[in-house]
Amino acid sequence: IAADISGSVSSPLFEKIEVVGGYLNVFLKKDVVLREVLEEILSSKQHYGDQHAGDGQVATIDMSSPNIAKPFSMGHLRSTVIGNALSLILQKNGYETVKINHLGDWGTQFGKLITAYKKWGSEEAVAAQPIKELLKLYVQFHDEAVNNPALEDEARKWFKLLEDGNEEARALGEGFRDESLKEFSGIYDLMGIEFDSFAGEAFYNDKMQNVVDELKEKNLLIESEGAHVVKLPNFPPCLIMKQDGATLYATRDLAAAFYREQQYKPAKVFYVVGNEQSLHFKQLFSVIEMMGYDWARQLQHVPFGMM
Ligand code: ARG
Repeated sequence: IAADISGSVSSPLFEKIEVVGGYLNVFLKKDVVLREVLEEILSSKQHYGDQHAGDGQVATIDMSSPNIAKPFSMGHLRSTVIGNALSLILQKNGYETVKINHLGDWGTQFGKLITAYKKWGSEEAVAAQPIKELLKLYVQFHDEAVNNPALEDEARKWFKLLEDGNEEARALGEGFRDESLKEFSGIYDLMGIEFDSFAGEAFYNDKMQNVVDELKEKNLLIESEGAHVVKLPNFPPCLIMKQDGATLYATRDLAAAFYREQQYKPAKVFYVVGNEQSLHFKQLFSVIEMMGYDWARQLQHVPFGMM
């Protein structure tokens, strides 16, 4: 059979063909092959080796996602580089990627920050060293609140104002976000990494109600000790709303998943986040599956270890 085939294959790239037992050894003309490959690399440049499996479909990558007014951690750095590498690989395979920085810019701590800033902060100090100064204010708040519990009430009041869209609260919150982002941008610029969206947790404040309503309609929202949870077949219940009606990290991720599904129609959805959040993502994907959405199967957590 080998001898048979050897007579019917030929190419200008072949130097010779040898039949050895059951094998057919093809020797390439190294100078010709080398020239052809190098010429192709030089002419197609960064497109050399492009694959088309993705066929122009969209892949979203939730990556980096540091928290406003807090230091950028080693975990955020890992998420940034792994997410970026994943994005380049996907692009090479013909996917259109959307790199999303899901900033941690929401939560009751913003009420505390606003309170502390109004009492002890200054615009100049924050602008000069945003993270250091905001962290200092946050620590000071906790130190002073030990002897002055009224501060906690004030912080709650400010967070409520923030939730309700009060102008001053919003402006302050956005100011902290912008200043922190300036500092984070220094790191991104250094690495040459860009994002397509900075829609963080705050962005979903007005988009959670729809999801909560749908959970209710589908009889998935269950009251448990005053809180609202979704019971899951394989994991602990997913907490959606606390006793006081406050939403959680998971509620915002749920709203974000629906928003992105509608906005980008992605074929693949990646979350590049440390493995300490594995349970959170299992619960999140499980809730979406229980709501009856097929696209829950496209969601993938890309975990990494802690340093
Ligand atoms: N801000 C979070 C943290 O620092 C990470 C967010 C990851 N992305 C997400 N969609 N939950 O832990």
